[in-house]
Amino acid sequence: MKAVGSYKALAANETDAFIDQEIDTPVATGRNILVAVKAVSVNPVDTKVRKRPHPDETWRVLGWDASGVVTAVGDDVSGFSVGDEVYYAGCITKPGSNSEYQLVDERIAAKKPSSLGFAESAALPLTTITAWEGLFDRLGVSKTGQDAGKTILMIGAAGGVGSIAIQLAKKLANLTIIATASRPESSDWCKARGADHVINHYEDISAQLEAIGCANVDYVFCLTNIAGYWKTITDVIKPMGKICTIVDFFEDSNLDLLKLKSATFVFEFMFSRSMHQTSDMGEVGKLLADTAGLIDNGDLITTVSNIVSPINADNMRAVHTAIEEGNAIGKSVLEGWS
Ligand SMILES: NC(=O)c1ccc[n+]([C@@H]2O[C@H](COP(=O)([O-])OP(=O)(O)OC[C@H]3O[C@@H](n4cnc5c(N)ncnc54)[C@H](OP(=O)(O)O)[C@@H]3O)[C@@H](O)[C@H]2O)c1
Repeated sequence: MKAVGSYKALAANETDAFIDQEIDTPVATGRNILVAVKAVSVNPVDTKVRKRPHPDETWRVLGWDASGVVTAVGDDVSGFSVGDEVYYAGCITKPGSNSEYQLVDERIAAKKPSSLGFAESAALPLTTITAWEGLFDRLGVSKTGQDAGKTILMIGAAGGVGSIAIQLAKKLANLTIIATASRPESSDWCKARGADHVINHYEDISAQLEAIGCANVDYVFCLTNIAGYWKTITDVIKPMGKICTIVDFFEDSNLDLLKLKSATFVFEFMFSRSMHQTSDMGEVGKLLADTAGLIDNGDLITTVSNIVSPINADNMRAVHTAIEEGNAIGKSVLEGWS
């Protein structure tokens, strides 16, 4: 089968950062389904893993967002059949989706939204799992409206995660959403997805919150540079408020700043369930199935903003380069094999 991978950790624009290569097609066993990959999305995690050294220059396939068609199932698979159209993020400890066929555990996959094509579906899984778990499991926001009207500050909201987090926080929870974006086009994107207010993360966040009448917020969902925003976040969070981030601190930050407000801080890592094979890892497949239903009902829309074809080394280099610039709006997807 065709695959796009590499033997070395290189800058995205270097020729060997991605190579088109023929490799063996894997065989479905146990609870794995074998998927003929039709489209893949690229996330910042791909760029981070790309830069990690390869022990002994081993071949590595990146990609943790895909849609495709089931072509074989392992003996223990009960939820899928050959021919099902699926979408999934997969597991960070397993070979990625940038290959013509990929094995994925059935518990972390779901049937794709029937109203969307493969490219529009591939944009969604990784960021949706992150946003759903961050909002509903880590921050504990009610999915059935019990927290309606509470305020959430989403920092870095026009990117892949924010693009679906805004929609989930509005459609399922009816929160009042204050998104941050720094450009007219990223600001408009957030508003179009349901943000009630958009403020600029490069200006004084506290002053802007005060100006819109939300000096303090119930929740903060920080999607970028948590260390840089930590002091502001601890200033604006309400007593007993909750803060979730999906990114590393990279430097010491003072957790004591939360004590006088009895505020909660929590990390979200969307691969935790799959990499630790937790007993509840099937919740990942369920939330993707629920999301597909919400999309088919018209409650949520895809977050795709850019589709390139085919899936090959040249296009992968270009998309990685663009993502590393840090100003993505929505999601970039690669579709089809040449
Ligand atoms: N823990 C997890 O499970 C998990 C899951 C997914 C992603 N992540 C991580 O979360 C981060 C965000 O992911 P993503 O897919 O949403 O990224 P993305 O799509 O690349 O995000 C791009 C957006 O980030 C905003 N941005 C860039 N620098 C910023 C800054 N200094 N302050 C505020 N906003 C800034 C930009 O907004 P403007 O152009 O408007 O400035 C841009 O729209 C990445 O580091 C990713 O690796 C973690």
